[in-house]
Amino acid sequence: MSERRVLLIVGGGVAAYKALELVRLLRKAGVGVRPILTRAGAKFVTPLSLSALAEDKVYSELFSLTDEAEMGHIELSRSADLVVVVPATADLIAKAAHGLAGDLASTTLLATDKPVLMAPAMNVRMWLHPATRRNIETLKADGVGFVGPDEGAMACGEFGPGRLAEPPVIFAAVMAALKGPAPRPLAGKHALVTAGPTFEPIDPVRGITNRSSGRQGYAIAEALARLGARVTLVSGPVALATPPGVDRVDVETARDMLAACQAALPADVGVFVAAVADWRIDEVFGAKLKKDKHGPPTLVFVENPDILATLSATGPKRPRLVIGFAAETNDVEMHARAKLARKGCDWIIANDVTEPGVMGGEENAVLLISKDKTERWDRAAKDAVAHDLAQRIAESLS
Ligand code: C5P
Repeated sequence: MSERRVLLIVGGGVAAYKALELVRLLRKAGVGVRPILTRAGAKFVTPLSLSALAEDKVYSELFSLTDEAEMGHIELSRSADLVVVVPATADLIAKAAHGLAGDLASTTLLATDKPVLMAPAMNVRMWLHPATRRNIETLKADGVGFVGPDEGAMACGEFGPGRLAEPPVIFAAVMAALKGPAPRPLAGKHALVTAGPTFEPIDPVRGITNRSSGRQGYAIAEALARLGARVTLVSGPVALATPPGVDRVDVETARDMLAACQAALPADVGVFVAAVADWRIDEVFGAKLKKDKHGPPTLVFVENPDILATLSATGPKRPRLVIGFAAETNDVEMHARAKLARKGCDWIIANDVTEPGVMGGEENAVLLISKDKTERWDRAAKDAVAHDLAQRIAESLS
């Protein structure tokens, strides 16, 4: 690792002091650190501290004659194996997402051809603001990696997501990124994933749907693609960006979802995460229903096809591994095991949706149920659950 080099951009936020600890950890591990300190960053840490710990010159100005003479800013952006931004402020994130290049840090981010890892830190409302959400999705789609933020008490006196990840966690992410691209055990494999809710129309303007956010399914599609799989993601209506490297097919109804899944076959693995409506309206009203003297309308339901059961049925096109999901509110294992048998799939990933923050939230606590065993996984972020599941899929298909 000794000749590995990190270009570290230190942005302007209270958490900038933690960047100093990161530099110390990296130097101890023999990683070279070349610091760029933004003007705002210099309000929080001094160039002298950064330079002393990094044992290198600190770069700050885009139009500095001496800096340009020593190392032009374009060269600077290429001089490392990895560009790391700590703390990645809302401003730096927005600039990078939009390709702005008004100072040395943003110019470097635009000019680099090296992988970029950002550790965001900002006030909770700035983090949750739709503009920041959009910018993060854009950067993820561009291939930028993220570590954190954590949730907790903040310097501004508020509580929530937006705290910089702790230096040892950022250090681990940097070391992992320096190891280069992860192995791709699913290269050459095709994965079919369903995600999100379905929407079953009542009339041209109304319909029946559910609260599925699609997050877990999208995270699984992303994790499978990261392991090298070709991924077809058949998605109900959700407000999520398509993960990098994933082919997305948008559908509304359960029947469209089934047709899209069948069209995507053959696949090596099918992961059916979508919250599919069990019933649809028998005859969709052709015109908008009106209030009238006859009182409220009567809706007649018919059963939707079960996509998971249909694709689990033996046949030449059955994926080698079929995985269903079960959202349960009680006796999770018993119901999930019964579902495994009824649907004919190979694994069921069961979760207790009465747990706070699971439905529509960022975390999940699941059981993996196969014919002969039950595993209980620790509660973790949906991304982490997705990563672990993708690894297990890779092992099973290898
Ligand atoms: O029967 P239940 O809806 O609880 O089963 C959940 C599992 O079945 C999920 O994997 C879901 O994606 C799948 N499913 C399906 N088609 C349906 C209903 C559920 O694929 N019509």
